[in-house]
Amino acid sequence: MRPWLLLPPQWAHDLGPWALPLFAQLYGGKTPSCQPFSWRHLRFENRLGLAGGVDKSGESLRSWQSLGVGFLEVGTVTPLPQTANPGKILARDVPRQAVWNKMGFPNKGVARLKKELHEFARHKSVPLFVNVGKNRQTTNDKAADDYLSCLAQLHEHADAFVINISSPNTSDLRQLLQPENLQKFLRPLLEWKKNHSRALPFFLKLSPDMPEDSFFSALETSLALDIDGWILTNTTLARAPGLTFPVEGGVSGEPLRETSFLWLERAHEYLKNKKQGRLLISTGGVHSAPEVLRRLASGADLVQAYSALIFEGPRFFQRTVAELQKSATQTSVAPN
Ligand code: FNR
Repeated sequence: MRPWLLLPPQWAHDLGPWALPLFAQLYGGKTPSCQPFSWRHLRFENRLGLAGGVDKSGESLRSWQSLGVGFLEVGTVTPLPQTANPGKILARDVPRQAVWNKMGFPNKGVARLKKELHEFARHKSVPLFVNVGKNRQTTNDKAADDYLSCLAQLHEHADAFVINISSPNTSDLRQLLQPENLQKFLRPLLEWKKNHSRALPFFLKLSPDMPEDSFFSALETSLALDIDGWILTNTTLARAPGLTFPVEGGVSGEPLRETSFLWLERAHEYLKNKKQGRLLISTGGVHSAPEVLRRLASGADLVQAYSALIFEGPRFFQRTVAELQKSATQTSVAPN
């Protein structure tokens, strides 16, 4: 029974933060452990985490933390608060398990997130990634300043930063991923990190819609600047056959599954001798325990989900990790 699927998607989305604490009260508990993983100073009890965009302003982190995630991502946050793009911003196709959004980073701004993270700090028990972006009116030549402003204000409460220049819903943002722009944009951010006493890991979130040469160039450029890992991928502008969503906006969920998997495989192969302790984090169409296992077997260190929550509800993480635990037990007792 999934009553929220009877509501229009925007209603279900807006009601989510109100209903979530109740869910957490009823079902929340300790983080389940499965294939735990230590990386640098961070400990992940399991490999499945909350993807960027679910909790943009950090208002539901305690609830999500209690619902089975191995790690959290908050944001995308921008320096100033901003509203969503005008018009319709969210739709779903239930039979195809697809989500469409054109949100454009609606969030309450960095000062508000700082306050939320300060309050959350004493409850925090899983690694927390903070996903940063730029305000829509900031031009690309000034974009790095927006990101730097978020880093400077949030570093105290973050375990890692996610640099998001792959959303399709902020005009021209993805141009920063292009080979001729990426180094100029990314260098000051990674220099900030180097000069900072608490050198937090930085992950670059990539788009699934890049030409292959730009994708590999982005890996190479970010590697040369000593990035700590990559998140593959953000939503896609591509439309699988049968989808009737508008042409603008990003699609996620099932139609993104094989594309995001392909980019994981390509990145894993490309980084074979160069990865050196950096992380590959896979997201896009992960709706089940077998899919988590497939990502982990294909080079992902960690896996994230968003769209699955829309179809499966907030207990998705608990159920999936329980299944992963079961399959780990079965594997360990299976005869060779
Ligand atoms: C997103 N995603 C996203 N990503 C990001 O880096 N910052 C953001 O603010 C958002 N916002 C957002 C809103 C909505 C409604 C959706 C569905 C998605 C992208 C998300 O983190 C993820 O990369 C993709 O959705 C692919 O994973 P799933 O949804 O197929 O599991």
